[in-house]
Amino acid sequence: MKTAAIACAAALMVLATSGWCLAFHDGGVAACDGCHTMHNSSGGQPQTGTGSGNRYLLMGSDPSSTCLLCHASSLAADGYRIATSPVPPQGSPPLQLTPGGDFSYLQKSYSWVNSVTGLPATSPGDAHGHNIIAGDFFYFQDSRYAVAPGGVYPSASLSCISCHDPHGSYRLTSATAGTVEKPVPGARSNPIRSSGSYGALPTATEAVGVYRMLGGIGYAPASFPNDPFVNDPPIAVSPVVYNRPESTSPTRVAYGRGMSEWCENCHSGLQHTSYPNATVGNHPDGNAAKLSQQAVDTYNAYIKTGDLTGTFSTAYNSLVPFEEGTTDLSTLAADTTATTGASLSDNVMCLTCHRAHASAWDSSTRWNAAKGVYLTVGGAYPGIDAAGTGANGEYATGKTEAEYAKTMYDRPASAFATNQWSLCNKCHENDQYKQ
Ligand code: HEC
Ligand code: HEC
Ligand code: HEC
Ligand code: HEC
Ligand code: HEC
Ligand code: HEC
Repeated sequence: MKTAAIACAAALMVLATSGWCLAFHDGGVAACDGCHTMHNSSGGQPQTGTGSGNRYLLMGSDPSSTCLLCHASSLAADGYRIATSPVPPQGSPPLQLTPGGDFSYLQKSYSWVNSVTGLPATSPGDAHGHNIIAGDFFYFQDSRYAVAPGGVYPSASLSCISCHDPHGSYRLTSATAGTVEKPVPGARSNPIRSSGSYGALPTATEAVGVYRMLGGIGYAPASFPNDPFVNDPPIAVSPVVYNRPESTSPTRVAYGRGMSEWCENCHSGLQHTSYPNATVGNHPDGNAAKLSQQAVDTYNAYIKTGDLTGTFSTAYNSLVPFEEGTTDLSTLAADTTATTGASLSDNVMCLTCHRAHASAWDSSTRWNAAKGVYLTVGGAYPGIDAAGTGANGEYATGKTEAEYAKTMYDRPASAFATNQWSLCNKCHENDQYKQ
């Protein structure tokens, strides 16, 4: 089935240190010995005796550590890598620029003094996203939440494979309908021919993997079977090169449908699909939370604070993405290179405001949404090292200007207003929620 995967397995010895290997998972189950070692004898080493191996014969001491053997890197914007390792010291930013965000923000804590109150404030590493447990890489359980807010999934069991199926068994069988299939033992299902994350289409006889090999209905890792998922993976298409600075152009994942619903596998209490809905204390999001005419008009006109002269054809901003309400993979693939803005068929979703893995900000938001009013001060990013702007500790939140620029995926400060407000205004600047 998969010659490319086999070629990668042969190259495993160099994989961890060399650059980009085009296919390992190939959308489905990869070569077993990429993650498992049968006798503690990986890489031609002598067998080290019984009793000292890892659970499930894994290469790392736990599932997430196994993933990070390949998915962590010291290089900047390094292909499929989603964590910087070793974690950059104080004053230096994490370097991966993927849509999900760099996990090493979980090991970066920031502190500052509020310029108005004079009180010290912090943004602890644990608050920056999903605290995957990866002992070999010093990632530990979240210290603040025992379970997922709005749900029951325990933080003590949170790992890469809480969300991603390591064996990539869920598959898309339709190019347009978003139909997800989980193979049933003994029953026939179409084999996966490639990743489904980049717009490849299933055929009558072959399927593609689901977006990012995420778990679907019934999914639970063998080591934590307690909370099987009730919703299938989202339909979305990523550009092939998705780990890159956005200094000159955005990295546009074309989100189609079902992201909020998928997050709600663990955060069911945070759902909010209709508006107005006075009884649910959450921002509207999900398949049914279509943008209003006013939100559409504002999104398309908004360039930056005070500048509402934009047009639909160039309005897209990957710091404020939305779902398009479609499951058509070809449409989504075409949109990965589009700059067009919002329309009435689009909806708000969790990733409009959050990154799926981690970010520099509390609650894993895409920009500084919860602490500090301004994203730029006097035409520059706030920074503790820059004369003047450093005085406003709550804007810089303990970061240098260079660190701040990296949190904005290397966009120049000149892309924003002289004193830029929160990007909530991409949809709200011109309406009743105006700041
Ligand atoms: C991308 C990494 C990865 C690859 C590739 C992989 N596995 Fe696994 N496998 C895991 C992880 C992680 C677990 C631990 C699951 C857990 O903790 O619940 C696991 C668990 C297992 C288990 C025991 C639990 C279960 O889910 O049934 C079996 C059996 C298994 N793998 C077989 C295989 C076989 C056979 C292959 C090759 C066809 C393979 N794996 C390829 C990561 C991988
Ligand atoms: C042996 C190295 C290796 C290991 C171990 C590994 N990966 Fe990967 N992973 C890769 C490579 C190479 C790619 C990019 C090529 C591809 O997608 O097949 C990738 C891509 C991915 C993608 C994007 C794939 C897509 O189709 O969208 C996900 C998600 C992912 N890995 C998750 C995991 C998880 C979770 C684990 C641990 C259970 C893991 N990986 C373990 C090498 C590895
Ligand atoms: C809470 C669920 C969750 C956890 C935990 C998680 N992922 Fe992801 N991952 C996602 C989602 C959702 C996306 C798609 C993000 C997007 O497109 O905006 C993603 C995307 C990715 C990608 C593609 C690059 C990117 O950032 O978009 C890779 C590779 C990946 N994950 C690997 C991993 C590895 C390795 C781990 C553990 C160290 C992990 N993930 C933990 C949900 C998760
Ligand atoms: C497998 C279960 C699971 C899924 C799926 C999941 N989460 Fe979580 N989430 C958790 C757990 C457990 C915590 C609490 C532990 C932590 O914050 O590290 C959490 C915490 C969070 C936090 C708070 C982070 C912080 O540190 O303050 C946010 C925001 C969040 N999730 C958003 C999302 C979004 C968005 C998605 C979908 C892309 C998602 N979650 C999918 C389990 C999950
Ligand atoms: C319109 C933007 C927006 C959307 C959409 C959104 N969030 Fe949030 N979320 C935030 C902000 C901002 C915070 C920071 C705390 C605050 O201000 O309430 C936050 C906080 C959180 C937290 C931390 C705990 C808490 O309650 O403060 C979790 C968990 C979370 N969000 C999950 C989700 C999930 C899951 C979805 C989708 C179902 C989602 N969010 C949709 C903006 C958003
Ligand atoms: C992608 C567009 C979008 C973004 C970004 C966005 N919103 Fe909204 N927001 C909406 C829509 C759509 C509604 C529903 C009302 C409407 O149609 O105008 C809404 C409603 C609200 C409401 C009223 C909710 C209710 O139930 O009465 C508040 C408050 C709000 N948003 C605050 C925020 C904040 C704060 C942020 C940033 C953290 C934010 N929004 C970001 C689109 C957006």
